[in-house]
Amino acid sequence: MQKNIAVINGDGIGPEVTRQSVNVLNAIAQKFGHEFNFTYCLMGADAIDKTGNPLPDETIEICLNSDAVLFGAIGHPKYDNDPSAKVRPEQGLLKLRKSLQLYANIRPVATYPSLHHLSPLKTKNIDGVDFVIFRELTGGIYFGKKELNAEQTVASDDCVYSREEIERIAHLAFQYAQKRKKRLTLVDKANVLETSRLWRKVVRELAIQYYDVTTDYMFVDNAAMQIIVNPKQFDVILTENMFGDIISDEASVIAGSLGLLPSASVGKGAALFEPIHGSYPQAAGKDIANPLGSILSSAMLLEYLDMREEASVVREAVEWTLKNNFVTKDIDPVNFYFTTTIGELICDYVGNKAPGEIHKANIELRKSTII
Ligand code: IPM
Ligand code: MG
Repeated sequence: MQKNIAVINGDGIGPEVTRQSVNVLNAIAQKFGHEFNFTYCLMGADAIDKTGNPLPDETIEICLNSDAVLFGAIGHPKYDNDPSAKVRPEQGLLKLRKSLQLYANIRPVATYPSLHHLSPLKTKNIDGVDFVIFRELTGGIYFGKKELNAEQTVASDDCVYSREEIERIAHLAFQYAQKRKKRLTLVDKANVLETSRLWRKVVRELAIQYYDVTTDYMFVDNAAMQIIVNPKQFDVILTENMFGDIISDEASVIAGSLGLLPSASVGKGAALFEPIHGSYPQAAGKDIANPLGSILSSAMLLEYLDMREEASVVREAVEWTLKNNFVTKDIDPVNFYFTTTIGELICDYVGNKAPGEIHKANIELRKSTII
């Protein structure tokens, strides 16, 4: 198959983790006889530096004309502590989500036995955790009217949801639950917020249609606690934009490292795939960032392109590296491997070049990854 993939490296560690993903996709293309054409485009602080605009029109155009978008990370510290900055890197991502109408952000949370010790939670509570967060991505408080009075003493952000916005993501989440453990939990704050009451009403109505799925409802404050005390109870969590932003970062600690978690944003146009971590500017250029969040996002990308076998080869390769303790510094601060080495090992595995016997010394000396 021939596919066009837009690549947005973005900021901080974005370029270096994305490079490894592109290499892995090329290894997959070679193994399975596909052709992936990558077109690079700008977004975020990188785009502001080069064009003054966090999302140049050209980027939107390229993404709209691609089969999928692979994205690295966004954000730069020079904007974070400046509330008066008019142009911000994050505006690029928010505008891209709107332009591509990516209304559903899918964030799987799974644990790996070899990493259980990294989680701040007890092994018995996290072994076998496997749930997915469906976060609404183009509505709610993120996109409501924003106001600041002339005296700069009062500010507001409107949270608005329409029935249609709730229905379209709820359908996706219910259908996803049907293919999994058939449980859906709507996370809201229906005891306080009118928008949450609308979410609950709409989801209750749809639940009748998806009668094979057990649906329950949880207030977000309780959900924040349940994700920590008993994460195994969840299968598919459906929630609005801001609650989803917060609980997905929270859920990432279950797996032991934020660097591991992938995500997909889907909607009406080309879907976008990105690790859930940020731009981690302190690590940029040091070859120490964990590329697995990005590589696992590429596995989701392959699945979205209907390349299921290809996606499972990538996941198997990732599991192989973790099992053999080929891990980056976030996972093992002492005996760690470099970003590029992990990427090369995964490419080797995909290309059947990784033998059973492993000569770690060669890898440690960065001599060879053909071990
Ligand atoms: C995320 C990020 C973004 C969000 C930021 C960078 C705008 O935190 O994708 O979770 O809040 O949606
Ligand atoms: Mg976030």
